Amino acid sequence: MMEKILIVDDEKDTRDFMARALSGQYEVVTAADAELAMRQLESDASIRLMLSDIRMPGEDGLTLMKAAKAAHPNLAVVLLTAFGSIDQAVAAMKDGADDFLTKPVDLDQLELRVEKALKAHRLEAEVNDLKAQLDEKYGLGNIVGSSLAMQRVFRMVRQAAPTDATVLLEGPSGTGKELVARAIHNLSPRAKGPFVAVELAAISPTLLEAELFGHEKGAFTGAVARRVGRFEAANHGTLFLDEISEMPLEIQVKLLRVLQEREFQRLGSNDPVKTDIRIVAATNRDLAAYVRAGKFREDLYYRLNVIDLHLPALKDRAGDIPLLVGRFLKEFGGKTVSPEAMKLLEAYPWPGNVRELRNAVEKMCVLSPTGEIGEEDVPDEMKRGGARTLSTAGTLEETEKEKILAVLEECGGNRTKAAERLGISRRTIYRKLEEYGL
Ligand SMILES: Nc1ncnc2c1ncn2[C@@H]1O[C@H](COP(=O)(O)OP(=O)(O)OP(=O)(O)O)[C@@H](O)[C@H]1O
Ligand SMILES: [Mg+2]
Repeated sequence: MMEKILIVDDEKDTRDFMARALSGQYEVVTAADAELAMRQLESDASIRLMLSDIRMPGEDGLTLMKAAKAAHPNLAVVLLTAFGSIDQAVAAMKDGADDFLTKPVDLDQLELRVEKALKAHRLEAEVNDLKAQLDEKYGLGNIVGSSLAMQRVFRMVRQAAPTDATVLLEGPSGTGKELVARAIHNLSPRAKGPFVAVELAAISPTLLEAELFGHEKGAFTGAVARRVGRFEAANHGTLFLDEISEMPLEIQVKLLRVLQEREFQRLGSNDPVKTDIRIVAATNRDLAAYVRAGKFREDLYYRLNVIDLHLPALKDRAGDIPLLVGRFLKEFGGKTVSPEAMKLLEAYPWPGNVRELRNAVEKMCVLSPTGEIGEEDVPDEMKRGGARTLSTAGTLEETEKEKILAVLEECGGNRTKAAERLGISRRTIYRKLEEYGL
């Protein structure tokens, strides 16, 4: 749809000249004076930009601009000043004009400046839209977190969402990667398009290619009909590649090609299919370590890693726990939690992160006999878990084992990374885990 522009000038020739110049790209309406212009603006909210002469009989362009902006806060205004009247131009900008042009009007300049002013307003409108969406429930509103780490996540989601940039979400299981992926989609211009999630670990490698790229009828035994793959299903939307570390190397090559060429082929066909998708990938593994180990292509890693968002373990942002508990209490029926019980929940290390916390709150809401969840309603393993982090009891071996397992969990099961963090060699961690029977 063409954007609408209002041209105001008392000279008919100038008006017609500008209208003709702009009518190819915009829908143009005209007015011969300020009063007529105001009437148009008041009856038509779709006018995006007003191009007005300053010097006119009756009310001048500056006065008109003030009235117009009051009626249409989001209206872009470009004013026309007589050649050489710098002071008028300065006054125009000071009063809120987006730009000014000097007469006689240069055609190229006219088109350029009008487009520039419109573009600035489009961006502003977009930002306002996004802000409004954020306040709604499907935006960032359902992801809670007051920790600095989560505030940073929110900021990056807001910045990344309006772009088509590929996002890599890293973080342990249950930290909200899928939730964030959905938020990125919901806050993006693709929100009306599909959000297609593919859990790579759940699809057998032999079926994966057909699943992702689709196939023609007869492409292989059993391909009785043509099938649309996930890449095609996600067209004009977002494709969420979950557990990306589990993608087999030969599929990684193909994904890389899709990212580079923005097209792919169905199995059993040589015709390229164009796709317009945004990719968000997630992993609870240390993907960089996969690259070092030769299990993940380095070039693909850099392609995916355009925006890298790390979701920290809940234990490392325990300050978020009360907020999350509050959110889940509301979700599961509005009970409260006693301060003592909350202390236990805050002390527990939550190896399953937010997912585990959410499940625990749900369970306590169901099982607690009163309206308030007390210490006695907190599951035993959480009391012990909380105590574990506080007490120094137990043998040295037990403490060591607990420590190793806790760090291993934090590192998403990645032994190399866990060894690094513990300051022990990889050989040692493998030997220890063997001792524990793992
Ligand atoms: N910051 C948060 N605020 C509110 N709810 C959250 C938050 N983070 C996670 N959750 C909730 O916790 C659960 C787990 O989140 P999600 O599925 O997004 O985790 P994940 O990182 O994708 O986990 P996995 O790696 O196991 O797939 C969901 O029910 C989600 O709604
Ligand atoms: Mg997930």
